[in-house]
Amino acid sequence: MYIGIDLGTSAVKIVLVDSDQKVIAAAERSFLISRPNPGWSEQDPNMWINGVVESLDELAAKSGDRMAAVKGVGLSGQMHGVVLLDENEASVRPAILWNDSRARQEADDLNRAHPELIESAGVQAMPGFTGPKLLWLCRHEPRTMREAKYLLFPKDYVRLKLTGKRATDVSDAAGSWLLDQKSRNWSRTAISACGAEGLDLPLAYESSKSTGIILTDWTKRWGLPKDVIVAAGAGDVASACLGVDAVDSQSGLISLGTSAQVVLATPEYKPKTDNAVHTFCHALPGTWFHMAALLNGTSVLDAVSRWTNQSDIGKMLTAAEMKFDGPGRLLALPYLSGERTPHNDSQIRGAIIGLGHSSTAADITLAFVESLAFSLADGLAAFGDDTSPEHMALVGGGAKSPFVARLIASIINIPLIKYSGAEMAPALGAAHLARLATGEMLDADSAPLPVEEIFEPDTELHLAYASRVSEFRSLYRALKQLNN
Ligand code: XUL
Repeated sequence: MYIGIDLGTSAVKIVLVDSDQKVIAAAERSFLISRPNPGWSEQDPNMWINGVVESLDELAAKSGDRMAAVKGVGLSGQMHGVVLLDENEASVRPAILWNDSRARQEADDLNRAHPELIESAGVQAMPGFTGPKLLWLCRHEPRTMREAKYLLFPKDYVRLKLTGKRATDVSDAAGSWLLDQKSRNWSRTAISACGAEGLDLPLAYESSKSTGIILTDWTKRWGLPKDVIVAAGAGDVASACLGVDAVDSQSGLISLGTSAQVVLATPEYKPKTDNAVHTFCHALPGTWFHMAALLNGTSVLDAVSRWTNQSDIGKMLTAAEMKFDGPGRLLALPYLSGERTPHNDSQIRGAIIGLGHSSTAADITLAFVESLAFSLADGLAAFGDDTSPEHMALVGGGAKSPFVARLIASIINIPLIKYSGAEMAPALGAAHLARLATGEMLDADSAPLPVEEIFEPDTELHLAYASRVSEFRSLYRALKQLNN
């Protein structure tokens, strides 16, 4: 038995899986984000720990004796966070999350002053990354930086509480802008450019290495054996890829959660920094991944439901589907939080054009669903012509709607595979890393997640949408000009 813990932004999800990767039990707790100033996004690390402990209490209650057969725990987590601890390993301020845009100026300054670091960090500095946010703290909260002794990433704070050890893994460290992706080691130059020389950084392990064992108080509380190891684990993107076995250049991943990602693995470190593509260390040794990171995923559907006063998003999508007969009349931009790939533009915002007296809530919903699919198509196009995956796994809350899945498959013209249980992909990936850390291999005949549905592209629809995708791109350019 293995436990996978995925410390997400909106919830922590925990799974207990058996040696065939079958989910035996699951538990989760939700989290809120605090936004004390415009563009800020923070969470109290101790809220994460409460959520993890409560979920593990629930998992233990549901699993009974089976907890005694657990061999390893794996961690997955939201990336790019800043968790600062004092000399007693207590957190000195709320964690600053991946979707926080306060460090705009710092990211620009780093790109201007250190263009050479863009290649080694795998992508240009962006406001949500750890490094630029540390530079912001040096400039705006020098006292915090004086008090802080240790830097961790969100999932690693959970590790510290579970094992007493400070450590991270290369795929999470990859999102900090402080790592040299090729050598998979910290970059001294990047650390000093971001004003972080005074901080003690955790050792960055390969994801499938053991980093310690669960402390006795916890093993007693949850009925675990004495020597349960904790694998280094991975950032949520890399972990989700492992969870659905999307780990080669032919099988990509589209994750449509609060944010969205298009991901393809690569056996060589070949950054593609044009168009803000991220190239980060993967969770398997000697591999990296290219990622289009989109800040706007299902959060856009949440916003549409608020604007149009429809509290049930499932019903809202069904209403749009009922009226669907090809590309809609309205055109929207989904950039409610700015956008990373392909624009690296934290200032841009959403838009909708074409509204008339007869426009309905269903038209508006369709326009924003289409806009999400267009931005995924843009993300894939940013990888360049040399990438053509045969199929992509679709994971995340947005994968629940077959209508949305079919539309995306048709617009990007690639079959999408939906696995059952894929909403747990990062937690399953973490459990898989726990298994690897114990030195166990999967049985050759052990079944991967069962395929629930394959969404084949509809060629007619693909062609009908071709001109809409280019209009979508023109609308971004027009809006950008207006903003400047
Ligand atoms: C990846 C990214 C998100 C966060 C939150 O670059 O920003 O996936 O990890 O889930």
